[in-house]
Amino acid sequence: MSVHVVADTAIKLSFLRATLEKQHAVTSELLSGASIRCGGSDAVVVTADLRVVENIAALKQIFGKLSHVRKRIFLIDQKARLFTAQAYALGATRVLVNSVNQASLLAELADSSISPTASIEALYGAREAATVGATAIASMFSAVLTGKPIDVGGAKGAGSRIADNIAEDGLTSWLETVRRHHEGTYQHCLLVTGIAVDFGLSLGLAKPDIERLYSAAMFHDIGKAKIPLAVLDKPGRLDVQERALIETHPAAGYDVLKGNVGISLEILDAVRHHHEYLDGSGYPDALCAASISDIVRMLTISDIFAALIEHRHYKPAMPRQQAYEIIQSMQGKLERPLVAAFKDVALSR
Ligand SMILES: [Fe+2]
Ligand SMILES: [Fe+2]
Repeated sequence: MSVHVVADTAIKLSFLRATLEKQHAVTSELLSGASIRCGGSDAVVVTADLRVVENIAALKQIFGKLSHVRKRIFLIDQKARLFTAQAYALGATRVLVNSVNQASLLAELADSSISPTASIEALYGAREAATVGATAIASMFSAVLTGKPIDVGGAKGAGSRIADNIAEDGLTSWLETVRRHHEGTYQHCLLVTGIAVDFGLSLGLAKPDIERLYSAAMFHDIGKAKIPLAVLDKPGRLDVQERALIETHPAAGYDVLKGNVGISLEILDAVRHHHEYLDGSGYPDALCAASISDIVRMLTISDIFAALIEHRHYKPAMPRQQAYEIIQSMQGKLERPLVAAFKDVALSR
């Protein structure tokens, strides 16, 4: 594969060249004065400090000329959410943390996205929609962290793009693409949105109801922007304090969204109550069945299924069949007819 590398320092440039030259044909240039003569490169790998204003300006120019390059990988200096959002907003198709070992970069370049179960066209369509979705979610998280207004229209627009992709190409290519190219909370929110949309489509819901579903799903975990990544992405079991901290995210999400133009009472309800169960054992308000709306019931099932089948670097993804069996076993917590209807989504679509 031909790879063009752009970096903001000579040290980073030579380090990346040394890593990539073992397996790829590499061209490179420094960010300052970059002319982007990468011709027919298959991939571009960019690394630069996003705290430097001049770098941002130069990167905007560069990414403007790179839309034809299929893989646009950005390496960020630290695992900082603000930088992730910024990199996606600049036009990256994938953001990796610079300090991780070089294996993930090589694996990303080697990944041809060819799947035995989904067509190549479907995977590319899903990939574009997933990039739009990840950009919108990253921008929401960064708005929460910086206290800026949330781009509600942008998030709903991305949800609509995801819904179009699911309607056209089905759920399987969506799940495969999102799990392969996105990580952590972004991956989770994209999965929940796709699953909730497909759940609605499988029930034959009308377009306005599909819109209600993807809007609720896109925003549902926005409160996780307030939770430290060390807790959110912790491998293995959480201790009592960490669990208590995680359980603050529905109310935190409700608080940050309240008062934003375009956020309906229904979205606020879904954000606050997507961890409630019919038997009153959920959080934060221990609601019982009568107080939990249909849309929240559907979102909760989609959310649990997404969490079970997520791809994490420290464990293999659970098969869809096994995840559905766990949902079926949650007696009294989820609405039975909806769980039965979800079988088609979980296993076949
Ligand atoms: Fe949640
Ligand atoms: Fe969730």
